[in-house]
Amino acid sequence: MTQTGGFIPATRRPGVLGVHSVRRLAMTVPDVEVARRFYSDFGLDTVAQGANLDVSIQGQAAPCITIADGPRKRIHHLSLAAFEDDIPRFTSHLRECGVERLAPPPGFESNGLWFRDPDGMLVEICVALKTTPDRKTPALWPASTANSARAPSRTGASKPPPTRMSHILFFTPELDRAVKFYTQVIGLRLSDRAGDEIAFMHGVHGSDHHLIAFVKSEGPGLHHCSFDVPSLEAVGLGAKAMADKGHQRGWGMGRHVLGSNYFHYVRDPWGSYAEYSCDMDFVAADYDWEAHDNKAEDAFYVWGPTPPIDFARNYEVSDE
Ligand SMILES: [Fe+2]
Repeated sequence: MTQTGGFIPATRRPGVLGVHSVRRLAMTVPDVEVARRFYSDFGLDTVAQGANLDVSIQGQAAPCITIADGPRKRIHHLSLAAFEDDIPRFTSHLRECGVERLAPPPGFESNGLWFRDPDGMLVEICVALKTTPDRKTPALWPASTANSARAPSRTGASKPPPTRMSHILFFTPELDRAVKFYTQVIGLRLSDRAGDEIAFMHGVHGSDHHLIAFVKSEGPGLHHCSFDVPSLEAVGLGAKAMADKGHQRGWGMGRHVLGSNYFHYVRDPWGSYAEYSCDMDFVAADYDWEAHDNKAEDAFYVWGPTPPIDFARNYEVSDE
């Protein structure tokens, strides 16, 4: 990596075609105002854009989630970000892979490349800044010093907001098919999997252990969007703040095995989750991560409370 005039270009694996970041998830929900309160309470900015709601990291203009009114919670599309000079290559690559290009959906007109994945989810690849980190994000821990009272008061503790969207976990009815498509067409790489239950995928240009993950279900859907916070304390403070605002349901705090991140999941009003995540494993642009197939019972979480019984239920295909 070289530095030119103070501008440090994003890390990149030379010659390898692949998206570098998750740009945005768009979905419909039955009550946009309920969504605005949930994501605002979570620590994200919410801005009305006509009838839609844009959700973004505090202080950042580009939304990482866009929400529209609809009869129920449903994924509308996934937007992935690529380097500008990779767009012509992706155009050729999609054609060679036999992937049919589609027109942008109404309200989301862009010069990105639009198509559907094998589960029917609408996907866009477009030019956008690399928001996935270029190197391991250091986790912050309180300084260990003697002779001082280091914890803040309960009322004086402020919750650090999320600094970026980390990853999205999707439900899929065909795990191998999804992994094959997102490897061969999108250019992600398998990080780890647990049999036919779950698979985690990272970007080739330097990324968290997973940008996208898939868990087996009866149909497609959203399990959770995950947001990075700077410390284990921020995970706990986020969970407490959400509980104080009425969002008690969820799972955490705990630590995952695959990805190693500390987590707390807050259940959203539609049965999916928003995750506070901290200190996830990182795969550098010049490193070939060796993917392993893990035993599910030994790979879900290192420690934490017992998950809710419906934690992996896909409420986009079932109301039960
Ligand atoms: Fe996650």
